[in-house]
Amino acid sequence: MLMSDENRSKDENRSKDKNRYPDEQRDAVYRVIAERRDVRRGFLPDPVPADVLARILAAAHRAPSVGLSQPWDFIVLTDRARRERIVGLARRHRDEYAEDLPAARARAFDRLKIESILDTPVNIVVSCDRTRGGRHTLGRRTQPQTADFSCVLAVANLWLAARAEGLGVGWVSFFEERELAAELRLPAHLEVVAYLCVGYVTEFAPEPELAAAGWARRRPVSWAVHAEEFGRRGLPGEEPVDPLAEVIAAIAPPDQQAMAAAKERQDLMTKPRGSLGQLEDISTKLAGLAGSCPPPLPEPACVAVFAADHGVHAQGVTPWPQEVTAQMVANFLAGGAVVNAFAAQAGAEVTVIDVGVAGDLDNVPGLLPRKIARGTGDFTAGPAMTRDQAVAAITTGIEVARDLVAAGNRCLVTGDMGIANTTASAALICAFTGADPVEATGRGTGIDAATYARKIDVVCRGLARHQPDPADPVGVIAAFGGFEHGALAGFILGAAALRVPVILDGVIAGAAALAAVALAPDAIGACFAGHRSAEPGHTVTLSYLGLRPLVDLGLRLGEGTGAVLALPLVQSAARALRDVATFDSAGVAEKS
Ligand SMILES: Cc1cc2nc3c(=O)[nH]c(=O)nc-3n(C[C@H](O)[C@H](O)[C@H](O)COP(=O)(O)O)c2cc1C
Repeated sequence: MLMSDENRSKDENRSKDKNRYPDEQRDAVYRVIAERRDVRRGFLPDPVPADVLARILAAAHRAPSVGLSQPWDFIVLTDRARRERIVGLARRHRDEYAEDLPAARARAFDRLKIESILDTPVNIVVSCDRTRGGRHTLGRRTQPQTADFSCVLAVANLWLAARAEGLGVGWVSFFEERELAAELRLPAHLEVVAYLCVGYVTEFAPEPELAAAGWARRRPVSWAVHAEEFGRRGLPGEEPVDPLAEVIAAIAPPDQQAMAAAKERQDLMTKPRGSLGQLEDISTKLAGLAGSCPPPLPEPACVAVFAADHGVHAQGVTPWPQEVTAQMVANFLAGGAVVNAFAAQAGAEVTVIDVGVAGDLDNVPGLLPRKIARGTGDFTAGPAMTRDQAVAAITTGIEVARDLVAAGNRCLVTGDMGIANTTASAALICAFTGADPVEATGRGTGIDAATYARKIDVVCRGLARHQPDPADPVGVIAAFGGFEHGALAGFILGAAALRVPVILDGVIAGAAALAAVALAPDAIGACFAGHRSAEPGHTVTLSYLGLRPLVDLGLRLGEGTGAVLALPLVQSAARALRDVATFDSAGVAEKS
């Protein structure tokens, strides 16, 4: 008999109701997911009863696994002498990790607890056998790593069951895997997946310890969900959000109240009024950006060096071969460039983003591979890039800013690398400010008179060809920009939307800031001009943006070097507002 549509839908609803857990039980599932924590502190010495341990291990053993291969084994450790040896392994790796950290991170890391191997009565090691089940294990043929994924699901089950039992679990990964495997007498075909410290605790923290400590932040779920294809971000039931539109909408003017409070406090601080000069303006601006007085310290800081190549290089605007871009990227990653030296001195991290280097780069730690294309087109012959590529570059910069802030950075610093990028910058500056190419074009890395004349001519020809409309910033970037300019514009917008200060380097960052401010005028509230570059176009840019540089040393290197030099100044401005006593609090008499 055919069912009517109405009856079918009633029937389906009944079966949905039948399958769904009663509200209270469903809530308990979501509750345990929300309240599961990685626990490192507050463990009690009480032993975990055998039946409780058996229950959480059985829960782990119920995990899904590729081809039902159940590739896990669980090694339960209570012996103290063995765990003391294991602590030794973890401490060594902890120290090695700490040595690699920039100063501000190293200080924060020092305060973190990363393992509770001896504070807990029992440790559980989860190992993986990638060969279990033999050759025809269903689903593992093309992806051997699905065995490891299965073991991680066993860990997740154990972690959730433990939370429901009131047991804290802390995952330790500070091991060289084979060293730990040897200590556990693991056969060669087994690998360690997880080392878990398990015990009863005084309490479970409401949020991840790393978030509470300010080490890293949670990313909003809306950043992680994409509709149909990567990049169409948005939650089900909501329109996909375009990151650029979302970020522009999130950028707001500075908080006037926080700024007024900062100004008032500067006048009460134990120093003559106005005696900190420009630093008083910086700290007021930081307060306005953060919406609080005093503002948070802008540390840790990260220099993001965006690297890309330029088609206009073919016009002979620089004596440097294009390959130098890729070679310098390798130098940044090896820690051998000036920006690395300055960043080490200032305690900042350096991250390099390939947004359009012509050559291939090795994937090494510290490099974010985000290539949009292998260099731009020659803007004297056509647009440097398509509009879609310009939007992709901006979006990449937004995401890099978001990720670096989620990773715990409180100050972003711009850097760049791209042979011929001062030519593209000059064109962008003329397009946005209306400056004359003679006024905005400089000698870049140092060029002779003939090359300089050619460079000006190239900028003039580009402007004549594209007739840029400054009211269409994406179009201007597409016409002249490097991918690093687009990405830097997005990076500035991303920082402004998150209300995190961004210290601008020289002329390349300045040109990108012009685009960012054209897209969202209030983004200027997040921008701090690190230095004044020797490039004349930079002076034009700074006065157009109304920014006063902190450092003026005639630098013309790029990379982020000038901005990094200004980092301690911006940090000192914030610290003064936070730490300096007032006349009242210190009992110091004011000038009569
Ligand atoms: C694969 C993995 C390895 C981890 N390794 C460590 C570690 O070595 N030390 C540590 O303190 N926490 C470690 N954690 C815990 C994470 O820092 C923690 O899960 C994260 O900050 C989120 O906090 P929450 O688990 O309380 O939600 C690890 C977590 C996972 C998933």
